[in-house]
Amino acid sequence: MFPVPLLLPLLLAPGSATVAPGVTARTLAPCYSADLRPAAGSLVSAVGCTVLLTAPALRGSRAVSWEYRAGSEDGVILSYGFHHPPNVSHLYEKRVTFNESNLSLQVVLQRGDSRLYRLRALEEATTWFHLHVVEPLSQPKIVGNSWVEAGSNTKLVCNVLQGKADAYWWMKNGVLLVESERIQFVENTTLCILRASISDSGYYTCIVSNAVSQNETSFLLKVHHYTNVVLPVMLTCVVIGSLAGVFVWYQRREDSCDNCCRTGSVLL
Ligand SMILES: *[C@@H]1O[C@H](CO)[C@@H](O)[C@H](O)[C@H]1NC(C)=O
Ligand SMILES: *[C@@H]1O[C@H](CO)[C@@H](O)[C@H](O)[C@H]1NC(C)=O
Ligand SMILES: *[C@@H]1O[C@H](CO)[C@@H](O)[C@H](O)[C@H]1NC(C)=O
Ligand SMILES: *[C@@H]1O[C@H](CO)[C@@H](O)[C@H](O)[C@H]1NC(C)=O
Ligand SMILES: *[C@@H]1O[C@H](CO)[C@@H](O)[C@H](O)[C@H]1NC(C)=O
Repeated sequence: MFPVPLLLPLLLAPGSATVAPGVTARTLAPCYSADLRPAAGSLVSAVGCTVLLTAPALRGSRAVSWEYRAGSEDGVILSYGFHHPPNVSHLYEKRVTFNESNLSLQVVLQRGDSRLYRLRALEEATTWFHLHVVEPLSQPKIVGNSWVEAGSNTKLVCNVLQGKADAYWWMKNGVLLVESERIQFVENTTLCILRASISDSGYYTCIVSNAVSQNETSFLLKVHHYTNVVLPVMLTCVVIGSLAGVFVWYQRREDSCDNCCRTGSVLL
């Protein structure tokens, strides 16, 4: 069909592969969030960490350049002609280290560095290497009422302030929560508790994770009996003889349910 692939091995040095050479990359220590093993083809690393890109010797390397591709935009990170110090693009200025003897490139990663990278010489270039740069997650913030009346519905929302979470899960007093008729997870950030009971009191932990990090935060929820609060008040009211007033007030309190978890009201 295509004679070219059959001829290529003859043109290249014996034993060499027919495919274009590839870049190898690894995250350098110290980087507590990313995997430090070297990878070919693609690598996931974290904002703030340093990545070392290396390439095998290329034909025509009297001049080389490290290049990037982002969508339809191509650019030169650094070009080097062996007689002068390398020229570095302003996008990567002050955060790349180039080794002039082995042509490797170290990059201190920023948000937005998720791109394709390659080393190009005069006659040959490596294949594109895909670098995924992920921002480590900061501690999430749980928003909700910490003092909730028994029988009412309540919700806790877990907000990630920095980075993008791929997964959310919840624990209560250190035990993983599973969904049930009364415990529901909505839009993956929100925990809904329907018809809260005293036994729902406790420490709720929201755990968030992405490819390079995991973080968590806890929240103390206290569910109290309405009657505990209302009984002394009722007695006082009885003493002053305004029983009707209490009745009306009691009814109004009953109706003021937090209708936070709409799916829940269907079940009621
Ligand atoms: C680096 O920049 C200088 C000045 O702009 C230019 O003369 C030189 O050719 C460049 N070197 C390479 C390798 O691109
Ligand atoms: C550059 O790479 C060579 C060969 O791997 C190594 O011996 C040398 O120490 C490196 N230079 C620097 C400045 O790290
Ligand atoms: C090349 O140079 C870099 C930086 O100086 C060094 O870390 C690396 O071990 C060297 N060798 C190879 C094969 O990349
Ligand atoms: C959680 O985020 C805080 C910043 O909000 C950070 O200092 C801490 O190191 C993170 N924890 C983990 C385990 O990544
Ligand atoms: C959150 O849930 C929505 C659907 O409710 C889904 O499309 C989205 O991918 C989820 N996001 C995460 C980070 O889990």
